[in-house]
Amino acid sequence: MLRGRIISTGSFLPENVVTNYDLERIVETSDDWITERTGIKERRVVNNGQTASDLAYEASRIALKRAGLKPRDIDLIIVATVSGDMPFPSTACFLQKKLGAKNAAAFDLNAACSGFIYGLHVASGLIKSRMHKRILLVGSEVISKFTDWQDRTTCILFGDGAGAVIIEGTQEKRGIYSTHIDSDGNLSELITLPGGGSMHPPSADSIANRLHFIKMNGNETFKVAVRTLTEIAHRTLEANNIEASRISLLIPHQANIRIIQATAKRLNLPIEKVFINIHKYGNTSAASIPIALDEAFQTGRIKDGDYILLEAFGGGLTWASSLIRW
Ligand code: UT7
Repeated sequence: MLRGRIISTGSFLPENVVTNYDLERIVETSDDWITERTGIKERRVVNNGQTASDLAYEASRIALKRAGLKPRDIDLIIVATVSGDMPFPSTACFLQKKLGAKNAAAFDLNAACSGFIYGLHVASGLIKSRMHKRILLVGSEVISKFTDWQDRTTCILFGDGAGAVIIEGTQEKRGIYSTHIDSDGNLSELITLPGGGSMHPPSADSIANRLHFIKMNGNETFKVAVRTLTEIAHRTLEANNIEASRISLLIPHQANIRIIQATAKRLNLPIEKVFINIHKYGNTSAASIPIALDEAFQTGRIKDGDYILLEAFGGGLTWASSLIRW
């Protein structure tokens, strides 16, 4: 049986660090509040005009180099993002140009913070069906440009960054065992970036009403997140007939330490088996899981044969999970 396998990872974080103390000078907040309610201590924010495709390029270059591949070896590029360079063309096409990946088709995928696992779902299906041979999947976000730096309920949460993986087919007993995706459009109002689309095209009014910035009902999102993540993670384990105790590492979307802890508890996973880097980067949306995956692998937290469980949720609402055998 052919299945997709992640053969290489890479990530890139902008250099500029914004700490909670920096935010204390911008909005009425405190390091204590942010740390206690979210687990975030600092985040990275681009400060030199870098775009989502720039960060995606850096992460992809690393992943390609580690795999010993050239950009022309890639036949599909998928970029999961909600903060792309432009509404169109796709950020994936800008990335293709920067890499010189002339043999690839390229498109973007919008599932907000669940975008990377949605991308894994698409990529693994295309590999299994033999429609593509080698896919570059990237999560890249420059959320800071859509952050309302006057809104203390959202500006403390997000950060910029990118993570990339390369996926190939394998007949071995490892790779992407399953992917599961869900959404509920009835909850679309919980996290939005209302301006700039056909509903609220750019206008003097849309700017005056701050519609080009992220809006979020954090409290409601929080409750839905814990419930849906627990359900989809259990479903993923059942689909593979595997007990939670056999999971070596849970890599959750890094949105809030309390969501991460609550979900791990409901899965009966000790916190030592959960990868956490939210304190360093905040919520990097679609980039959060591939950045965490890369860090986990590079720091020796993932070994050959390990079962890795991924889970994410985000705007849409969307949520997703995947079981990988490394
Ligand atoms: O990737 C998917 C994206 N979404 C999420 O992950 C969001 C999930 N939600 C969350 O992470 C949390 O709901 C937040 C961190 C956003 C908020 O934490 P919370 O514990 O749900 O706080 P809250 O919204 O219930 O607010 C509690 C209080 C409020 O004051 P009052 O009304 O009780 O007087 C807020 O005004 O905290 C206040 N508050 C703040 N205080 C200091 C809200 N933001 C801040 C802040 N600093 N930055």
